[in-house]
Amino acid sequence: MGFERYVLVTGGAGFIGSHLVRYLVRRYRDWGIVVLDALTYAGNLENLSDVLDAPNCIFVHGDIRDSVVVEGLFRRYGFWGVFHVAAESHVDRSIYDPVKFAEVNVVGTVVLLSVAMWWWRRHSDRFHRFLLVSTDEVYGSLGEEGVFTEESPYNPRSPYAASKAGGDMFAHAFFHTYGFPVVVTHSTNNFGPYQFPEKLIPLTILHFAEGKPVPVYGTGENVRDWIWVEDHVRALDVVFQRGEPGGVYHISAHNEWRNIDVVHAVGKLVDAYLGRSEGTYRRWIRFVADRPGHDFRYALRAERIRGLGWRPQVSFLEGLKRTVEWYLTHREWVDRVRSGAYRQYLKRHYSALLGSSS
Ligand code: NAD
Ligand code: TYD
Repeated sequence: MGFERYVLVTGGAGFIGSHLVRYLVRRYRDWGIVVLDALTYAGNLENLSDVLDAPNCIFVHGDIRDSVVVEGLFRRYGFWGVFHVAAESHVDRSIYDPVKFAEVNVVGTVVLLSVAMWWWRRHSDRFHRFLLVSTDEVYGSLGEEGVFTEESPYNPRSPYAASKAGGDMFAHAFFHTYGFPVVVTHSTNNFGPYQFPEKLIPLTILHFAEGKPVPVYGTGENVRDWIWVEDHVRALDVVFQRGEPGGVYHISAHNEWRNIDVVHAVGKLVDAYLGRSEGTYRRWIRFVADRPGHDFRYALRAERIRGLGWRPQVSFLEGLKRTVEWYLTHREWVDRVRSGAYRQYLKRHYSALLGSSS
């Protein structure tokens, strides 16, 4: 033991979670950062390989729905706060398995909230915040105009969005019913290293580099608002430290792009990186059947968090360049994710991890 305070990060072996853990472990060396992750297909301990051995990083393999495990962690570490990042996160998968999304994103969130509230009721002076990481998708779809604010009504349209909305509703209910100090953040689409290559940007980078078809759903005119993942993670820290209990905070770089324009931007960077002649990538673009219920546009206004002093630091094109370079220089990571070999990492390293966390 021996750290000034402990925080729990769920889903810390996933894309955003691993960036958050890296940030917290390095920034707060006198805090113990306890990572709880079930290591589903999206969880990869290799995402944390550069911080797993840090004295203040403690990895626990477990499921947020398992109240016995969660309660045991609260008893052992007496958490000062929770960053709840874990979720089933891919819209396309939610279309085929909505039950899984309800179980993890709704039930899992309620289990965590319940155990954390039990702890907070006994130790309110030693519990700061429960931060729930949510998404812009709970608001539904925008047309060409307009933008969602923190006051916009929920209108989820995909099973993923519905399940995230369900978890959010319980968090708000815990604040209003019990006074439990919850903060909820909604971010726009993240991009950067370590994103599972089923999502648009990593998939596009890899397929262009490998000369494989890049599927663009529908006409490619759908719009997403993109944020560099490390900017998101800094924002989570700001909201955790200074957000009002019960507060809702949007996290956006106000950076809207049509999907087809993202695909072209990625293609240009991949061609340049590989020294190909300009426009080579174009031959691999394929317009395919649209995603069922495909939301047309998301965009968030995020003034409230700017009032707390946060600003995005990395422009879209700079972040995209870094992301392209990362995927094209981390082929072993990509190969292990694609082959499933990354799942062996736990077995190889778990005894060492247990050693460092006991
Ligand atoms: P991800 O799919 O990359 O990672 C999810 C992590 O959660 C994985 O490590 C997985 O193993 C873990 N997990 C899943 N089920 C679990 C369970 N039952 N118990 C414990 N751990 C479990 O997801 P991501 O893209 O990093 O998204 C993280 C969070 O941010 C999610 O809550 C998501 O809704 C939200 N979000 C994501 C984006 C985005 O663009 N990726 C945008 C806004 C909000
Ligand atoms: P995605 O990365 O799955 O994130 P989300 O659905 O959470 O926004 O998709 C981003 C956008 O790209 C979305 O409008 C769907 C589209 N898309 C494609 O056109 N082709 C693809 O292969 C994928 C994965 C997504």
